[in-house]
Amino acid sequence: MLRQLLDPRSSTWTYLLADDATRDAVLIDPVFEQYTRDAALVRELGLTLRYTLETHVHADHVTAAWLHHQQAGSQIVVSAAAGAEGADVLVRPGDVIRFGGRVLTVRATPGHTDGCVSYVSDDARMVFTGDALLVRAAGRTDFQHGDARRLYRSVHDQLFTLPDDYLVYPAHDYQGRTASSVGEEKQHNPRLGGARSVDDFVGYMDNLGLPHPKQIDVALPANLRCGRPERDDVVPPVSTWGPVVRSYAGEPQVGPAWLEEHLDEVLILDVREPAEFVGELGHLPGAMLVPLGQLRGRVAELPRDRPIVTVCRSGGRSAQAALILEAAGVTRVANLTGGMVLWHSLGLADAATAATAATAD
Ligand SMILES: [Fe+2]
Repeated sequence: MLRQLLDPRSSTWTYLLADDATRDAVLIDPVFEQYTRDAALVRELGLTLRYTLETHVHADHVTAAWLHHQQAGSQIVVSAAAGAEGADVLVRPGDVIRFGGRVLTVRATPGHTDGCVSYVSDDARMVFTGDALLVRAAGRTDFQHGDARRLYRSVHDQLFTLPDDYLVYPAHDYQGRTASSVGEEKQHNPRLGGARSVDDFVGYMDNLGLPHPKQIDVALPANLRCGRPERDDVVPPVSTWGPVVRSYAGEPQVGPAWLEEHLDEVLILDVREPAEFVGELGHLPGAMLVPLGQLRGRVAELPRDRPIVTVCRSGGRSAQAALILEAAGVTRVANLTGGMVLWHSLGLADAATAATAATAD
């Protein structure tokens, strides 16, 4: 299994790979700000995150390796040549990372930085090249001990020697290109392919005229700690009022079992139509009814002294309601997973029915 995930701010590609049979997974080059999204995907697909793998010490974003390690217990893998502190596994050329029945083999591809590695999957015929080889480009070589001659040798000796059909998955792309192949880059890469000599490449790289990376002063020191924040309290925002989990769809969710225990601590906001509110599924005790279609215009009516849990029939409309409230500045809000249907199927506390509807309405 392969999923390609984008961090739009830094144009970084993160890769989730998993063994379909055992559900063991790895993330290559996870981004700190995308931790919640990526962790949600791992959770929803029923995967166990075994490793996070860095292709190199990045200058343009902070890795989420430490966060995943803290939250999921995944092992942090970096190249021994990268000089980072806090890794669980320091890899060298020829080392293998195993997850389930799958294997990634490490190849040293320095030149963009001196610790750059690529990860080769021979069984899936693909290679994760970091910033060594990009689609029709190559990582810059003007800082972090960059060395264009070294990068040329790395690409030609370690990557262009792979079979032509191996797919190339880079760490970045700035023009929406997702992947390439070894054969394609050998032929069409304007910096490294075709008949380009090492001197052609050096001349090209010496004249890129790129600006200094904006994030480098923050990213480099953080990545040399594998993404561990300077202060441990600087972690992704965690809800303080309940076990709110954000789905891969981006929706804040709480489960029915937790809600049943905390019904009097939250405002239940039911966003169904009035007829459903008093229908056969009933509604939760004390629920306030604001149909979804009216919600945007009635946000000001909602009390803010308690967190809000949105509810509907199956949890779909109420998930949109939670997002509408977040967009309107409500910070303590979550959707009830599965709505009234799941609530009933779990046999939780009886919902009020038509008899009490008049007061609740
Ligand atoms: Fe880089």
